Amino acid sequence: MKKIAILGSTGSIGQQTLEVVDELNCEFKVMALTANSSIEILAEQINKFKPKYAVLMNDSLVNELKYKLSYNKTQILTGLEGLIKVATLDEVELLVNAVVGAIGVKPTLAAIRAGKDIALANKETLVTAGAIVMREAKENDVRILPIDSEHNAIFQALQGEDRAGVKKIILTASGGPFRTISADKLSEVSVEEALNHPNWDMGGKITIDSATLMNKGLEVIEAKWLFDLDYEQIDVVVHPQSIIHSLVEYKDHSILAELGLPDMKVPIQYALTYPQRNTNNLESLNLAKVGELTFEEPRKELFPCLDYAYEAGKRGGTMPAVLNAANEVAVSKFLAGKIKFIDIPKLIKMVMSAHEVVDDPTLDQIIEADTWARVEAQKEGEKVC
Ligand SMILES: NC(=O)c1ccc[n+]([C@@H]2O[C@H](COP(=O)([O-])OP(=O)(O)OC[C@H]3O[C@@H](n4cnc5c(N)ncnc54)[C@H](OP(=O)(O)O)[C@@H]3O)[C@@H](O)[C@H]2O)c1
Repeated sequence: MKKIAILGSTGSIGQQTLEVVDELNCEFKVMALTANSSIEILAEQINKFKPKYAVLMNDSLVNELKYKLSYNKTQILTGLEGLIKVATLDEVELLVNAVVGAIGVKPTLAAIRAGKDIALANKETLVTAGAIVMREAKENDVRILPIDSEHNAIFQALQGEDRAGVKKIILTASGGPFRTISADKLSEVSVEEALNHPNWDMGGKITIDSATLMNKGLEVIEAKWLFDLDYEQIDVVVHPQSIIHSLVEYKDHSILAELGLPDMKVPIQYALTYPQRNTNNLESLNLAKVGELTFEEPRKELFPCLDYAYEAGKRGGTMPAVLNAANEVAVSKFLAGKIKFIDIPKLIKMVMSAHEVVDDPTLDQIIEADTWARVEAQKEGEKVC
């Protein structure tokens, strides 16, 4: 039995991870679960999986959580300290990081230093501190197993191949709910429309990131670190059906891809059971039924976040952390109805333009830049609305 801890177990990826664990009956023991404030879901998960620890970021809700528990042997911890403690438990072999946002950086690094393999959904960790995370993973002989479907596809298409043979990778993007919208209409879209993703059912923040194309931008930076590539080796193509999850082109012009119906349980399972492949009860892809696979260039003039991510990644240093932090603030302001959809890229650009980059930053300098960017984005965001 592999012992695992799941950070962000109450979210979209976290809940699907537990469904996979449940379906793989007896292969995993869940040692720890965590939530920000979703106590209803966390209580159900604790009662069912009986972990040794659970973490609630919002400590004012601990009593309410305890009241909902029928299983009361789980020790309840709080805050970032709690996340770090469960990420580094002696018994844990694999940490699933499915929290949203840069809050994932410190627990991931702590787990790497404690020698745990990481199944990583939390792309913001690599965007913010990719150089440090990958360096420490190498030094500690730790595997970073990508859960993000595009990176999981690339990871699969690289198995058994010589990395020196890679020419480039191609990340596919669904194009989100506004793929074909006009510029006029984009300026008036509502939060509900932006949350209505055509193919994937995901948490709120990543769904908005998909609509702005920032999600693809974050994934470009994530791919750079995961697969040790130059930005010139990473292309993006819009593929509205989300059947091809990404591709690797080799130097001889052969292209290998991973295909399937859009279901996050497939990459989650592969990351959990790697290098084994287990059966499951998911649906097979029927290509004749899909009929058509189409491809388009991303509309970068209407959705500039993709270019901003390439720009931040190529500039390097603290700039990707600033891009990410400004985006987190901008998305939460949009979700709260305080700024328009088209203000998201404007806000990010303003913050990036004002940032004085620190090259080869330490973790403290990255965290300082992240904090600065959040304050700056709040300030600029108030001017926008
Ligand atoms: N969803 C997908 O299909 C998908 C696909 C690929 C990659 N990803 C990546 O996976 C990560 C998670 O995405 P998601 O869609 O699962 O997000 P989500 O549904 O919003 O869930 C996020 C999880 O993190 C917890 N959380 C939120 N803020 C926190 C904080 N400040 N401190 C500690 N925990 C916090 C949430 O707790 P509460 O429930 O209490 O709020 C929840 O458990 C993101 O980085 C995303 O980009 C997601």
